[in-house]
Amino acid sequence: MKYEIVCKTLDDTKKLAQKFAKLVTDGCFISLYGEIGAGKTAFVKLVAEALNVKEKVTSPTFVILNEYHSGILPVYHFDLYRLENEGVKTILDELREYSEGKNVTFVEWAEFSQDEIPFKHLRINVTYRNDDARTYSFEADDRDIIKVVEGLQKE
Ligand SMILES: Nc1ncnc2c1ncn2[C@@H]1O[C@H](COP(=O)(O)OP(=O)(O)OP(=O)(O)O)[C@@H](O)[C@H]1O
Ligand SMILES: [Mg+2]
Repeated sequence: MKYEIVCKTLDDTKKLAQKFAKLVTDGCFISLYGEIGAGKTAFVKLVAEALNVKEKVTSPTFVILNEYHSGILPVYHFDLYRLENEGVKTILDELREYSEGKNVTFVEWAEFSQDEIPFKHLRINVTYRNDDARTYSFEADDRDIIKVVEGLQKE
């Protein structure tokens, strides 16, 4: 199941994030793909805000993980860029535990795991179009997570 949408402005991305936040209230594990500056962290920040996270959401590039507990669900935000391939393999079991809890977990640069993530997850691919326009593409195979993608499709 796949859903793709063009967000012409950051405000469009905000609306998408608000819709997404309403669909993940049972928890979800999300891996984000896309080049540097595509809009992965921007989306996480907007979803966290839509989940009523009060703290300022910043990129975890240098700390690997940021967590936020002031919203309606715990939000965990990983950025594995600095771990690279070998490091990512060592934390896959830890990531699996996050995927089993009732929280929303985002992982940037999960492609450093080299293989497919070995547990159920939603994939978001972000591509730069021009200026402030970005394409967000959502993909899921798992039955529970497909519901989220179907929810995005509905107006
Ligand atoms: N429509 C849009 N959607 C998302 N971000 C946008 C949009 N238009 C402009 N931007 C800007 O693009 C930038 C995206 O940067 P962001 O930090 O989210 O990238 P990233 O994919 O997380 O990169 P990195 O791999 O370095 O972590 C932000 O400054 C954001 O404000
Ligand atoms: Mg980022």
